[in-house]
Amino acid sequence: MHFSTLLATSLALAGSALAAPSSPGHVKGDSLYKAMLSRGRTFAGTALTLRDEPAEPKIVHQEFNSFTPENAMKWESTEPSRNSFTFTDADRYAKYAKDNKLQIHCHTLVWHSQLPAWVANGGFDNKTLIAIMENHIKVLAARYKNVCTRWDVVNEALEEDGTYRKSVWYNTIGDAFLPIAFKFAAKYTDKKTKLFYNDYNLEYNGTKTDGAARIVKLVKSYGIKIDGVGYQAHLATEATPTSPGAAPNTSVLEAALRKTADLGVDVAYTEIDLRMNTPATAAKLAVQARFYESVAKSCLNVKRCVGMTVWGISDKYSWIPGVFAGEGAALVWDENYNKKPAYAGLLKGILKK
Ligand SMILES: *[C@@H]1O[C@H](CO)[C@@H](O)[C@H](O)[C@H]1NC(C)=O
Ligand SMILES: *[C@@H]1O[C@H](CO)[C@@H](O)[C@H](O)[C@H]1NC(C)=O
Ligand SMILES: *[C@@H]1O[C@H](CO)[C@@H](O)[C@H](O)[C@H]1NC(C)=O
Repeated sequence: MHFSTLLATSLALAGSALAAPSSPGHVKGDSLYKAMLSRGRTFAGTALTLRDEPAEPKIVHQEFNSFTPENAMKWESTEPSRNSFTFTDADRYAKYAKDNKLQIHCHTLVWHSQLPAWVANGGFDNKTLIAIMENHIKVLAARYKNVCTRWDVVNEALEEDGTYRKSVWYNTIGDAFLPIAFKFAAKYTDKKTKLFYNDYNLEYNGTKTDGAARIVKLVKSYGIKIDGVGYQAHLATEATPTSPGAAPNTSVLEAALRKTADLGVDVAYTEIDLRMNTPATAAKLAVQARFYESVAKSCLNVKRCVGMTVWGISDKYSWIPGVFAGEGAALVWDENYNKKPAYAGLLKGILKK
């Protein structure tokens, strides 16, 4: 499975005719982030695209104390041409966080995707590319210094077999691009800001997870700060055309988290969604609820797992159906903003001891 470039796209979907049944089991006053805080963790978050959708601010207020801007802080959005920065969109998210007293998981500084052609195909030599990277990190980190709780410093540097992705960063700089990126991030962000490596398919406890552990060790071997590893958790609840099978069980998820947490860094789920073949049925939604519970439980079983972020609020806007035809219903609220059984599953996984 290779969907990094697909992850790049945040699609405002026209909607897949799916109307998942709404869920019973919600008690007034439930709150995902309050549940996480009650268990000594620091956040429950959602990916956020600010849009004209009145249901969303209420849910954000009730359920989340953190968000990840889906696109606004990516390189193509912030530095579309060399040393020419555009912050109109990203600033809206910074303001939203401030006005609503929310953490931001800022996303992302060094990535091969949604990277403008002037960087990706610029043919720069090692020294120049490092200077370009430094300038970008410096400007972004400075502008959002008191805004970003966490930064995804490097995103998706690994192939599925755990070797380094042959991106412009790796091809030009070599694996030193990782410590170098973290060095600049540490230099220009506030000391309190947590610096993360973020990737997908780390949840299987396989060679790609070993690759993430290797990155943590590499950065640390230079004496450079790395605070955490983000496990995206774009998973499926059953075999689908884009997933060979269902998500791993709690023990595998937990082992995968420990592989990096045991190296002395925080871990978090950063982009959770659990897709299925649509249309959803009551039975499939019940299975999905158990997977949400399992993912949450694995986090709560690992002391260094500081939080969880779902990749959007409602199925109405999820990126999945637009990119993986015939798949979807991956989030916790249905297209009409009713809580799905997944909500109760997630909450149960957080609260159950
Ligand atoms: C690029 O420069 C950096 C910093 O000097 C160095 O660590 C890295 O090995 C160099 N990469 C190549 C491919 O020469
Ligand atoms: C979890 O999944 C792994 C890999 O498929 C399997 O070996 C293990 O027995 C499962 N554990 C439980 C508790 O079901
Ligand atoms: C996780 O992977 C390691 C090897 O890297 C293995 O020893 C361990 O049994 C795995 N744990 C689970 C639960 O899959």
